[in-house]
Amino acid sequence: VTSLKGRHFLTLAEYSREELLFMIRTAMQFKQRYLAGERIIPLLVGRHLAMIFEKPSTRTRISFETAMKELGGDAIYLSASELQLARGETIEDTARVLSRYVDVIMARVYEHYKIEKLAQYSRVPVINGLSDLHHPAQALSDVLTIMEKKGGDITRLKIVFVGDGGDNVLHSLMLAIGILGGKIIIASPKGYEPHPSVVKLFNEHASPNGGSYEIERDPFKAVENADVVYTDVWVSMGQEKEKEKRIKDLEPYRVTVELMNHAKPDAIFMHCLPAHRGEEVVNEVIDGKWSVVWDQAENRKHAQKAILALLTP
Ligand code: CP
Ligand code: NVA
Repeated sequence: VTSLKGRHFLTLAEYSREELLFMIRTAMQFKQRYLAGERIIPLLVGRHLAMIFEKPSTRTRISFETAMKELGGDAIYLSASELQLARGETIEDTARVLSRYVDVIMARVYEHYKIEKLAQYSRVPVINGLSDLHHPAQALSDVLTIMEKKGGDITRLKIVFVGDGGDNVLHSLMLAIGILGGKIIIASPKGYEPHPSVVKLFNEHASPNGGSYEIERDPFKAVENADVVYTDVWVSMGQEKEKEKRIKDLEPYRVTVELMNHAKPDAIFMHCLPAHRGEEVVNEVIDGKWSVVWDQAENRKHAQKAILALLTP
């Protein structure tokens, strides 16, 4: 793998299988060094990360901020509502100006085109910290967790996502698994399929590597013999108006003890968090023997370090 410095991180589809594996290996090394007590690894001394948020965040904000600081750099939290963006300054102009002050930008936005535009007009790398369509930083971290829990070859695993097939976290997870040559089963109702733009990316970047996905309407059939059962909220940020309909449509896809008992006995349960307990997953599962959700959250920081260290010029 040649240097990744200066590259954007918008959907994962910008990266080859080898590059993704390189990022994951780098994250693993950062984690080992962190657990061995090595707090500061001064690779980004004097560098600044700007973090723009249009939506709330706990994990993404804090893992990126601590990661940047532990790499010797600094991070600035910017609420979109407090930038001149809120008064009509364009994304293009914001990108042009910000990228003359900082070395790397991370942004969490509603419409995905906004992060693309930011990247197009920025002189420095732009990292997607979640858009309505993608959450690539989450997916990189999740692959790391799956490899830690289930071994390095994810192509041998049965990975099942249960719930909203049009979810941003699923979109990035399916691209990550697919680019690495693996397969994902999506258990979702009619009308909740992956977004056409994600299917297109999948066909172009994952299928040639042997990656595949399959939609199965019956959640019990889908999770049969599963190694990994993943879910996310039914009502994502920005979908509050559709709340009632979504909950009604997705009700049969709740991850319950009974559902987990159809997976392999040593299956793991994953969730990007925050969870709406009692909705997409019951307490007995998220707090039960299957759950790896806290390790998942922990891994975000190590994965962010890899992204920041490898991409920041
Ligand atoms: N999983 C995740 O991105 O969480 P936050 O919304 O708290 O950042
Ligand atoms: N799908 C969720 C993920 C939150 C991390 C949302 O977009 O709200």
